[in-house]
Amino acid sequence: MSSVDTAGRPPVLMDTSAGHPQNADQIAYWNGPSGQRWADRQQTQDILLRPIADILIDRARPRAGERIIDVGCGSGATAIAFAQKVGPSGYVLGIDVSGPMLARAQASAPKELPVDFMVADATVHRFDPASFDLLASRFGVMFFADPALSFANMRKALRPSGRLAFACWREPRENPFFMAPLQAAYKHVPKLPQVGPDDPGPFAFASEERVRGILTKAGFTAINLEACPLLLDAGIGGGLDAAVQGSLDVGPVSRALEDQPAEARAAAAQSIREALEPFAKGDSVLLPASIWIVTARAS
Ligand SMILES: C[S@@+](CC[C@H](N)C(=O)[O-])C[C@H]1O[C@@H](n2cnc3c(N)ncnc32)[C@H](O)[C@@H]1O
Repeated sequence: MSSVDTAGRPPVLMDTSAGHPQNADQIAYWNGPSGQRWADRQQTQDILLRPIADILIDRARPRAGERIIDVGCGSGATAIAFAQKVGPSGYVLGIDVSGPMLARAQASAPKELPVDFMVADATVHRFDPASFDLLASRFGVMFFADPALSFANMRKALRPSGRLAFACWREPRENPFFMAPLQAAYKHVPKLPQVGPDDPGPFAFASEERVRGILTKAGFTAINLEACPLLLDAGIGGGLDAAVQGSLDVGPVSRALEDQPAEARAAAAQSIREALEPFAKGDSVLLPASIWIVTARAS
């Protein structure tokens, strides 16, 4: 995995062992131009997804002095928020495969916070065994090729009293936040290749039955899925322009438009604007979305 330049804090930790071979595509994706775009959008993404961080932290109940792993922590917003909750006697390890996103995380984290960031594949990283209280993630756990293997590996890092709490997307039909712009883009560009229900991707954990099966196989107990409907403000204070730009920059629309001619991209942008207009109110563009908050116990 690539090395990381950071300023102001000790360097990002590096697991120099290779990632799981089956995760190679995802590791390349999150270290390529898409990972860089996510990193570049860090501030707006963090505002957009703040409501989800708030729900996750509420349900995860981090306590002073606890040790937490933030899996697929990306540009660090939730790892930093957890570090603020556990205080100086606690500790947060944010791990991620993406060099560009971890560089952002490292640059954003206040120096005094007890948080480290590490480039590592959660599927194979050798965590210190039985040394953490909470395994948490906002949207960082749906990209494993073999999720039961990944969760079994991560579970070993938890103490017997340890717990799991993560946010993942529910079905596409529950998420106009994704689907309204994507359907608009599809008027002008070919559809993305159909992904199988078990393939890694944003909706890989949409099925309650699948999530229960994966976590049970990995050894977790007391598995609970809470459906949380939301309105996400895709305008982030910048109105329709910002909402359209956000769809073009990251997520499924950006993938569908990759390598498409300029005219098709421009036509898609116009159709996305028309599709989002009914959701706009002033500088906000409030789109319905729905997530699961999944909680479980290590034993
Ligand atoms: C949708 S982003 C979410 C980032 C961040 N948690 C947030 O909420 O902004 C998914 C993250 O999962 C990370 N990821 C994907 N596969 C991973 C793996 N095998 N191990 C660790 N992180 C992984 C990606 O690099 C990316 O940062």
